[in-house]
Amino acid sequence: MIIIKEDFCLAPFNTFGLEVLAYELVMITSTEVLHELFKEGKLKENILVLSKGSNILFTGHFNGLVLLNQLWGKEVIVENDETILLKVNAGEFWPSLVEYTVENGWGGIENMTDIPGKVGAAPIQNIGAYGTELKDVMVSLEAFNFNTGIIETFTNEDCKFGYRSSIFKNDHMHKYFITSVVFKLTKNPTVNLSYKPLAEAFKHKHISEVTIAEVSAKVAEIRASKLPNPEKLKNAGSFFKNPVIDMAQFHNLKLKYETIPNYPQKDSTYKIPAGWLIEQCGLKGKRDGDVGVHEKQALVIVNYGDATGYDILKFANYIKDKVFEKFKVRLEFEVNVI
Ligand code: EPU
Repeated sequence: MIIIKEDFCLAPFNTFGLEVLAYELVMITSTEVLHELFKEGKLKENILVLSKGSNILFTGHFNGLVLLNQLWGKEVIVENDETILLKVNAGEFWPSLVEYTVENGWGGIENMTDIPGKVGAAPIQNIGAYGTELKDVMVSLEAFNFNTGIIETFTNEDCKFGYRSSIFKNDHMHKYFITSVVFKLTKNPTVNLSYKPLAEAFKHKHISEVTIAEVSAKVAEIRASKLPNPEKLKNAGSFFKNPVIDMAQFHNLKLKYETIPNYPQKDSTYKIPAGWLIEQCGLKGKRDGDVGVHEKQALVIVNYGDATGYDILKFANYIKDKVFEKFKVRLEFEVNVI
């Protein structure tokens, strides 16, 4: 029998700590629960899959059915001398998964140490940090289709991964519940030091001497020095994506701001750190009541106390407007606004 909770407070399930209610909520502890809900016709509309809530902004109560992802468990499905294929259920906590793989000496996700969130949410926005993205290590995933009640397999290619995006943020948005993800990890890892501060940290060593445990520890240290821990200060990581601009606009900006940080892309466009743009507007550390731009990383908006979702959205739009006024660059939200 399915237990449906009503008017359930979502404060523990969103890292902005917003005290919004879900009209209805079901704990998804097995895929059977999804099948039962489907049979009862409960998965027709107004459904929200919620995991850790580390990339979501609620602007009010959620007037539908929340499916709380609690699918635990992981297993090695293939192992040979070089490779491990690890199938991980969607409710596993991402930082614990990274710790587990590093402890086992399996390389692949160590650069993504401590990204707060759950495994099932990771492919949706193709999480990434310090030189690695989920798409670099994901083989396939399984997802329950709300329209058909069938669990489908998506290959890496099927997911149409892009920078902080996938098919689940576009055509298939709110249409699937990701139930598990398969990762390809290596038993003989070569570390990835493509992120400059990481290369800098290990410059006294030959790359072959650097271990994944050392990389993971260094990433944890870099993160802790810049990014607020949501358990201590309420936030949802990068609030904005780094915008991508065309060559003409980049050259114009470069004439005016010689030191503008930039990452040239394959298609002759340029990715510009949103944190830099926001900081140049004088907004780093800016606070309005209980909402503010983080003091050490301008990409992050924090809730210092009792800000509402509406306060946070208003503040984020204010930042967007200021950046557009100064640079004529439009920022996009990375967090999902509900
Ligand atoms: N910068 C500033 N001011 C700031 C922040 C950054 O000038 O307040 C400049 C830095 O000087 C640096 C550049 O921006 O030159 C890049 O900064 P950083 O390496 O910290 O990375 P980011 O582009 O700001 C992205 C991701 C982070 C990820 C880091 C490291 C996005 C939206 N964010 O930030 O991801 O941890 O790279 O790989 O792509 C997240 O998605 O929640 C997240 C935190």
